[in-house]
Amino acid sequence: MSKTILVAVAWPYASGAIHLGQLGGAYLPPDIFARYHRIVGNKVLMVSGSDAHGTPITVKADQEGIAPRDVVEKYHALIIESWDRLGISFDLYTSTMTSNHSTVTKDVFLRLLEKGYLFKKTTKQFYDPKAERFLPDRYVEGTCPHCGFGEARGDQCDNCGRTLDATDLLHPRSKLSGATPVLRDTEHYFFRLSAFEKPLREWLEAKTTWRKPVRNWALGMIDEGLPDRAITRDIEWGVELPVDDLGPGKRIYVWFDAVIGYLSAAIEWASGTDDPEAWKKWWEDPEAESYYFVGKDNIPFHAVIWPAMLMGYTGLNLPTDIPANQFITFKGAKASKSKGVGQSALWYADRLEPDAIRYAVGSILPEQNDTDLSDDQIIARVNDELVATWGNLVNRVLSMSSRNYDEKVPTPDDLTDSDKALIESTDATLDQVSTYIEKVELRAGLRTGMRAAGEVNAYLNEQEPWKVIKTDPGRAGTVLWVAIQAISGIRVALAPYLPFSTTVLGEMLGLDVEIESWSRPEVAGGTPLNDVKPLFIKLDPDVLDA
Ligand code: MF3
Ligand code: ZN
Repeated sequence: MSKTILVAVAWPYASGAIHLGQLGGAYLPPDIFARYHRIVGNKVLMVSGSDAHGTPITVKADQEGIAPRDVVEKYHALIIESWDRLGISFDLYTSTMTSNHSTVTKDVFLRLLEKGYLFKKTTKQFYDPKAERFLPDRYVEGTCPHCGFGEARGDQCDNCGRTLDATDLLHPRSKLSGATPVLRDTEHYFFRLSAFEKPLREWLEAKTTWRKPVRNWALGMIDEGLPDRAITRDIEWGVELPVDDLGPGKRIYVWFDAVIGYLSAAIEWASGTDDPEAWKKWWEDPEAESYYFVGKDNIPFHAVIWPAMLMGYTGLNLPTDIPANQFITFKGAKASKSKGVGQSALWYADRLEPDAIRYAVGSILPEQNDTDLSDDQIIARVNDELVATWGNLVNRVLSMSSRNYDEKVPTPDDLTDSDKALIESTDATLDQVSTYIEKVELRAGLRTGMRAAGEVNAYLNEQEPWKVIKTDPGRAGTVLWVAIQAISGIRVALAPYLPFSTTVLGEMLGLDVEIESWSRPEVAGGTPLNDVKPLFIKLDPDVLDA
């Protein structure tokens, strides 16, 4: 019985390249998760896209002196290149600038309006008297009323993490002109978030397997009370309203439309297949599961606001889990900027093999805590773990076999107890990795796969086939055959993490390149070994120096 799984991935603003920290926070994890579930045979739909709206885009447009649309097109292309180079395997990576997205957003707006969850209200909004325009929340800075942080933004305080309204700020100032903004009347649509306190609390309380920080944060927001939220703004760039009773100069607020992207992208994906209704399998079947991969700064929008919007809309699935990550930090002692620490993912892809990047980041995923990464650590992880443990294992076993057994996998004699134990232990590894990935403990899954590679190395050091071969080539061939079976199993366990080298290794072993089941394919004695070569390049210590 295969499962239907929506892998919903945070929409990055199309205002810059993808940073290595973002890759580990929100993009590599869903890719590992999706690849695993595809191998297992589940029906996976992995979608995301570039977030085209909001002040990050308009600020960038002002900086670069180009239109917001051109900012989105430029960085959208760059982001797609990152996914291609790093193997982030979206079924659809679109943007919120499509007409489909605007249609779906308007539909959600109208449905919530019809159900009484949207209402109009006149409020006071900051207006910059120098620049003569209303100020979006992000264009206002000031002191956080909760924690006293002096550089809080009008939409969120980066110090205590709370979502804010610009009018909450103490000592507000305009980012445009520095002027002290004044409050002016303006009419907007509001989402009646307060109506969902009770159902949200019940829903969240049942989510006992969620990561603690995610659930606690969401429940904490509810404890503090959920204010109704303005979902339109006095701006020119954003999805247009489907009603015209607010007059000109208003657009839908970025956070209202962006989360709808998960739904609109599934609809767009289905419209490109021969079954345009296919998106409903992921959204309307109550058995379908949905996992939202986001950074911790996005928890309020995914664990509270989006679920409330879905509850108001009715008929669509709520998130099954939101395994939000903490942050990857780049302190790197003295190194920092001059050493290029914390560059874009593409910068790293220009210098390292994609699986090396995936390994280094995958082994420090910030699942529980903020986690520090440095260039030296990346190099050490690749050389001392990926190359030393897994790459060298594959290389020494396959080259010894190829050299001594006519470029073929040796044919085994009877297996000893330790031979059998190694193969059994590899199969147990597959089970363990599967358990970890299903719980979204991806870092532990990778460590478990690597530990299995270490066990094969220990087995070889014990059996010493390079010595035995001189006196008993039959036995040495058996040992190598056993090691190859273990390698075949570990290849599957690591496939979600290291897709590029998985393909190369599959070709060397004459296995199906597309892995179609979470089990160890047996490699028969006599199978030709094709083009045996090292799986990974050992890195020069200065490969990441500017
Ligand atoms: N663009 C937002 C950010 O980078 C994330 C949006 S996720 C979405 O923080 F679900 F709202 F799209
Ligand atoms: Zn604060």
